[in-house]
Amino acid sequence: MIEGLLGIDIGTSGCKALLIDASGAVLASQTATYSLSQPKPGWTEQDPQLWIDGARAAVAGVRALGPDVHIAAIGLSGQMHGLTALDAGHRVLRPAILWNDQRNGAECADITQRAAGVDGLLKETNNRMLVGFTGGKIVWMRNHEAGLFGRMRHMLNPKDYLRLVLTGEVATEVSDASGTGLFDVRRRTWATGLLDLLDIDPDILPACHESHVVSGRVSQSGSELFGLEAGIPVVGGGGDSVIQTIGSGVIAPGDVQTTIGTAGIVAAALDEPAANPEGRLQVFCNVAPDKWHCMGVSLNAGGAMEWLRALLAGFSDAAPSAERIAEIAAGAPVGSRGLLFLPYLNGERCPHPDPSARGGFVGLSARHGAAEMARSVMEGVTHSLYDIFSLMSQANVGGSVVKASGGGARSALWRQMQADLFGCEVVTTEGAAEGGAFGAALVAGVGINVWPSAVEAAKVCRTVTREVPDPVAGKALREAFEVYRGLYGALSPSFAALGAAGLDR
Ligand code: XUL
Repeated sequence: MIEGLLGIDIGTSGCKALLIDASGAVLASQTATYSLSQPKPGWTEQDPQLWIDGARAAVAGVRALGPDVHIAAIGLSGQMHGLTALDAGHRVLRPAILWNDQRNGAECADITQRAAGVDGLLKETNNRMLVGFTGGKIVWMRNHEAGLFGRMRHMLNPKDYLRLVLTGEVATEVSDASGTGLFDVRRRTWATGLLDLLDIDPDILPACHESHVVSGRVSQSGSELFGLEAGIPVVGGGGDSVIQTIGSGVIAPGDVQTTIGTAGIVAAALDEPAANPEGRLQVFCNVAPDKWHCMGVSLNAGGAMEWLRALLAGFSDAAPSAERIAEIAAGAPVGSRGLLFLPYLNGERCPHPDPSARGGFVGLSARHGAAEMARSVMEGVTHSLYDIFSLMSQANVGGSVVKASGGGARSALWRQMQADLFGCEVVTTEGAAEGGAFGAALVAGVGINVWPSAVEAAKVCRTVTREVPDPVAGKALREAFEVYRGLYGALSPSFAALGAAGLDR
């Protein structure tokens, strides 16, 4: 029997289960997809049962692929910030409100005011209460669904709901707790002063552990439901955008990770909880007890590619694959002949925390065809990552190599665009395209001493591709970026006016 570590990631578009061995080699990987609902403009919700059904299917899939693997430990990863509201009997009260939901702008503004402004919040948590964070959602429920709120006894982030069903434990860990906006990231504990100010009952928050700590074991009912042996240790794990950095070998300062998943993320590891000027970045606890994590998150990266695929499907019978779109994009020159794409299709978070931000093609002319439009979508996403990278550089957080991850890292064209625009090498490591599930499996290994620390675990990440910057393409992309950078400021009054007039209903 091979000893294996199981990572389970509750993503936005599906659940991935992945088995690795103690050398970090991927033994099996399975994804079960599900959808999200958008009941109103800017709202995104998911029935938590979809996560459980997805996890059951994905785990059954990897078990079938690796029947001779003994699972020694399990790590959980998941989309961050989502609010799963439970009653005293652990029953789900309403569909989970997701990380990219934009409904709680007014609540976040109110929380900020009650905390004596952004500076007051930064003192308590080292973060703003960004739209999408769980804290604003809790207050939204109190303001808009008082009946349900009155019955809420527990709130859990998505992967922690899976933990509850798998082990019976109501628990979280420091990286996801950071993303509630109610956590003192410097001291790695709930921000009790802020909870008091906001009149949020601390008892609704789960017990919080360090990420590698065994938080529970597969229960009898978890065993029956998921086909896993009862008693397997389940470690804390981590929020996807934090735990996937270790899956690229980024756990100590030096390198930067970019992720093109549904969201676009630029992230780096820190030895200290760095200051977060004006709270424009997210400074969170990392999955190692002596490390922190800095990132900027765009709400629209792979999501913009998905939008394009769905759009094209509306004109023909089937959606082209992302690979086919990249092939078409490769037919246009660098810079897409002056066509720029703003990817703010669902509002934006970083560098513009603005739920009313919207996307657009700018510079469109009759010369532009499918190739330019496809390329400008990919370039627009790359510009948005570079915008975040520039902000992080201003805060003295950075690195000299970019480690690309997420589904978008499978595209050589997208990796090359990053190498050219960022002006540095872009590498991918084995397992990085697997996202949070790979990092979760590594952290599970740390929890049972397969590796003595997260830094040691991260050493299993072997480089598999390397793109080097082309200075000519880089110059063209940076010129385009300078124009791109001005577009949000120029267009934001129009975005606000569209929202105010209710035209985007
Ligand atoms: C992180 C964030 C996203 C989600 C979805 O702050 O909002 O990365 O975790 O994956």
